[in-house]
Amino acid sequence: MKGPALLSVCVLVALGLYLGGLCGDRRNCRGKSIRHIPGLDREITERRGDLLTLYRSLLGVPGMEETQQSSWRFPPQTEDKHGTLNCQHLGGLTGLGYVGSGFTKLVLKGTLPGGREIALKSVHSEGNDMTSCARRYGDPTGCYRLATYKLHKEVTLLHALRHPGVITLHGQCYENIIAPDFRVTAMLELGSPLEMIQLLQTPWEKRFKICLELVNLLHYLANSPLGSIALLDFQPRQFVLVNESLKVTDLDDATMEELPCRTDEDCALEFPSKTFAIQCSSSKKCIGVNEKRNLFNAYRFFFTYLLPYAAPPALQPFLLDIMNATGELRYGINETLEAFHKVLNLYKSGMNHRRKLLYLKDYMLIEGYRLNETNDDYRCWPSYNYRGCLLSMHSAEEAAEFCTKHTNCRRFVIGQEQTWTGTPLTVVIVVKLR
Ligand SMILES: Nc1ncnc2c1ncn2[C@@H]1O[C@H](COP(=O)(O)OP(=O)(O)OP(=O)(O)O)[C@@H](O)[C@H]1O
Ligand SMILES: *[C@@H]1O[C@H](CO)[C@@H](O)[C@H](O)[C@H]1NC(C)=O
Ligand SMILES: *[C@@H]1O[C@H](CO)[C@@H](O)[C@H](O)[C@H]1NC(C)=O
Ligand SMILES: *[C@@H]1O[C@H](CO)[C@@H](O)[C@H](O)[C@H]1NC(C)=O
Ligand SMILES: *[C@@H]1O[C@H](CO)[C@@H](O)[C@H](O)[C@H]1NC(C)=O
Repeated sequence: MKGPALLSVCVLVALGLYLGGLCGDRRNCRGKSIRHIPGLDREITERRGDLLTLYRSLLGVPGMEETQQSSWRFPPQTEDKHGTLNCQHLGGLTGLGYVGSGFTKLVLKGTLPGGREIALKSVHSEGNDMTSCARRYGDPTGCYRLATYKLHKEVTLLHALRHPGVITLHGQCYENIIAPDFRVTAMLELGSPLEMIQLLQTPWEKRFKICLELVNLLHYLANSPLGSIALLDFQPRQFVLVNESLKVTDLDDATMEELPCRTDEDCALEFPSKTFAIQCSSSKKCIGVNEKRNLFNAYRFFFTYLLPYAAPPALQPFLLDIMNATGELRYGINETLEAFHKVLNLYKSGMNHRRKLLYLKDYMLIEGYRLNETNDDYRCWPSYNYRGCLLSMHSAEEAAEFCTKHTNCRRFVIGQEQTWTGTPLTVVIVVKLR
């Protein structure tokens, strides 16, 4: 079952590439003659080469068709309960609306007949990529195909990369495969943009979760059967949140090749603030450069903003060590992941919070209390809710300590809910100011 399915996807995709390629070579394409524009021809040829390399590595991956063997699935999970979507599903979508756009791609959302919302990614005709290419070469059709190859590469990678940290590809639609205006529409899980400013205002536990999810993703990318994958264009806007989980959505600038080199100088890994030296291996590759590039980007775009602020004091030394070690690239991704798990376990254990009830003894227990938000107007920041002061606490003693140390706090309520860490208690602190 899996074998032929694998083949058919490859054949379909390769067919698109091959025939699109004929057009790319400026021969007659469905009888339409095409102008020669050397610069654009070269770019199209390069991008096709890039895609062919990707296909070759996909087909060369041992066990790629044995989907049970690992989390790698190619083609996408046949057991996907929603089924794989195709061009026919595009026509049935309702409630189309704008979600986002970048240099190359436009993202819309739409609702399937069953009510499920999905994201649709296509080439952005008014995007910078298209307009600057058209200005340079004066050939909108050729430029469109150039951009389509980018999206095509992304779809192909999304087929192969199945991980909780990678946006799920529900399906795709290829149109005009043998015409010059070859089109691709990707149908994806719908997310919401990552708003860093908003994230900065959320409790530490949520920010830590985002960073941990990023580290899990980078660990997967570094050890993928396709080799170590680097995200060349690594910025918060390449990520979205789905059900509060971080997922990468922009993969057109991913590379699976470690930089070729002759000397160590060729391997210098440069960032605006810093340059790292990497050795040129005997196989003439900058081994490890992809993993290091991702990790330093995670440090500079995510960890420095999200990790340290308002963290539990007991965890500060460990977090500062993670920041320092990734900022200096002393840790690889494996060690970073280990360090994150250590912090998570410490946090879950309550950070050895005192067992003695120093503060709790000053409080009286009332059972069956119901919250009344009009009465309880104590606010704190950051809080899990917007109107009050909802915090995660590991014990009633920890909550009592907090309440005692905050002058206006008079009482607190221990709720039933838990946070993602499964901390045994979530304590709601609500207090009437008197
Ligand atoms: N699955 C999705 N759900 C919701 N929004 C999404 C999804 N995928 C992408 N977006 C939004 O659409 C924007 C553009 O998508 P994408 O990053 O793939 O395009 P791009 O042209 O490559 O962008 P860039 O110029 O940043 O490289 C993203 O910044 C993101 O906010
Ligand atoms: C959202 O995430 C929570 C916690 O991780 C999980 O229990 C829940 O099933 C998820 N919901 C959906 C719709 O995936
Ligand atoms: C890491 O720590 C060393 C020694 O304290 C310091 O000199 C260096 O600037 C730190 N680096 C980062 C990226 O924080
Ligand atoms: C990192 O961990 C993965 C498995 O989780 C392992 O295959 C790989 O060899 C490790 N890399 C290094 C450099 O230790
Ligand atoms: C909440 O408190 C207000 C003011 O004391 C009171 O009028 C209201 O009935 C209370 N609501 C509940 C649900 O107890």
